[in-house]
Amino acid sequence: MDSSQASIFEQVRVWLHAARHIAMLTGAGVSAESGVPTFRDAQTGMWARFRPEDLATEEAFRRDPQRVWDWYAERRENLRDVQPNAGHSAVAEFQQRHPGRLTLITQNVDGLHQKAGSPSVLALHGTIFENQWLDRCELARRPMDACHVDQAEPGRPPRCAQCGNLARPAVVWFGEMLPTAAMAAAEQAARRCEVMLVAGTSGAVYPAAGLAHQARAAGAKVVIVNPDETELDEIADAVLTGTSARILPRLLEDW
Ligand SMILES: NC(=O)c1ccc[n+]([C@@H]2O[C@H](COP(=O)([O-])OP(=O)(O)OC[C@H]3O[C@@H](n4cnc5c(N)ncnc54)[C@H](O)[C@@H]3O)[C@@H](O)[C@H]2O)c1
Repeated sequence: MDSSQASIFEQVRVWLHAARHIAMLTGAGVSAESGVPTFRDAQTGMWARFRPEDLATEEAFRRDPQRVWDWYAERRENLRDVQPNAGHSAVAEFQQRHPGRLTLITQNVDGLHQKAGSPSVLALHGTIFENQWLDRCELARRPMDACHVDQAEPGRPPRCAQCGNLARPAVVWFGEMLPTAAMAAAEQAARRCEVMLVAGTSGAVYPAAGLAHQARAAGAKVVIVNPDETELDEIADAVLTGTSARILPRLLEDW
């Protein structure tokens, strides 16, 4: 770290120390050092000829449920043994040491923040290891109260034995709304925080990236942690150039 980065780093530590409430937005980059490829990097092997936009949509699933289910099955398998890295752990330990002080908001679906022990995570894009029904109750042919995803008939994808409704991954697909409660909680955190830490995200995916703008508009300091430039750098009060597994442990260790 050169001397100008060192003084920015110390300045950010002062802001964090003084902050009663911190919001933190993470993206695919915080999992890079755990070996999780970004969305586009993940397009390898037999899936290389498909674009994410052609697989991660409700339309794609309805057209060919098995193909999309198999794509997620492969991603789930690849993620199953992946371990959190030092960045995930630093955030989790900070949350544990300072209950209620840091609201963690992630765009990641890999569950690594949860695996690292973060006591609460607002997962704006869902979680890849969970399933939900494709259709809401009122769209299904029979009332859905009797159906439970975990009791779905096995198959690719599993389906409800009573009404045939299909299970699908509980992730937010292109064109879908973000979970209302998680987004509302994230917006509230963005409005009330004194520091908004943005780590491992390009800041290109909205509405998640808009949280940094909201925080700034409400008077918070916006701090970026990323080895490369991001689309949020221009609204940032500080840019810490480096990887999250390297920077976050030092940034969040106790004073
Ligand atoms: N792990 C996951 O769950 C996962 C993986 C890929 C994509 N996605 C989804 O894809 C979308 C992509 O948006 P995004 O902004 O999260 O990712 P992105 O792929 O657009 O950007 C990744 C960012 O991480 C940075 N980065 C790379 N290595 C890093 C490191 N070691 N430390 C810190 N930063 C690093 C890159 O410079 C880049 O800015 C999101 O909606 C997300 O849900 C999730």
